Amino acid sequence: MRACTIRNFSHNLNAVESTLALIKPDLLADPQQVKTVENEIQQRFKVSQRKQVFWKTEEAQNFYQEHQGKLFFNRLIGYMTSGPLIALALTGPHVISEWRLLMGQTRPPQMRVLKPETLRARFGLTDTRNSFHGSDSVASARRELAFFFGPDSYDRFLRV
Ligand code: CDP
Ligand code: MG
Repeated sequence: MRACTIRNFSHNLNAVESTLALIKPDLLADPQQVKTVENEIQQRFKVSQRKQVFWKTEEAQNFYQEHQGKLFFNRLIGYMTSGPLIALALTGPHVISEWRLLMGQTRPPQMRVLKPETLRARFGLTDTRNSFHGSDSVASARRELAFFFGPDSYDRFLRV
């Protein structure tokens, strides 16, 4: 009981988290770019697990259910099912916000002006085909990691 309390406390101090990073289909069309990006990710973050998948429409709709009904939803689903993608579980202190900072905000053309060093500025094509995904909270990371790596994968990645 006591050990458990201490362990949880130290997690809170370091704010060690896990997050889901996706490399989306437009980037996978260029293997050299994927190599470049994965090298940069590995230099900055611990990659706990990696998986390449090719989504069916239903899987994409399920993953992005929070956006159901929005104007861009069908375009997003078409894009995310247009080719394979790579899912990475990243683990480390503040990794949820750190990964979103490196990735940049949603719109690549805007990022090329405001944050040209971000991945979306460098690699993204359009507001839809923006090359990357990152969980936006601990709750999202838990759900999204479970989607790819099984139930309780968030806690599993924190333990190892
Ligand atoms: O991915 P992020 O959290 O930055 O953005 P989001 O608002 O959660 O939207 C999810 C994804 O939908 C984006 O990454 C884009 O691929 C797509 N999207 C779009 O096609 N058009 C928009 N106006 C907004 C988002
Ligand atoms: Mg989002």
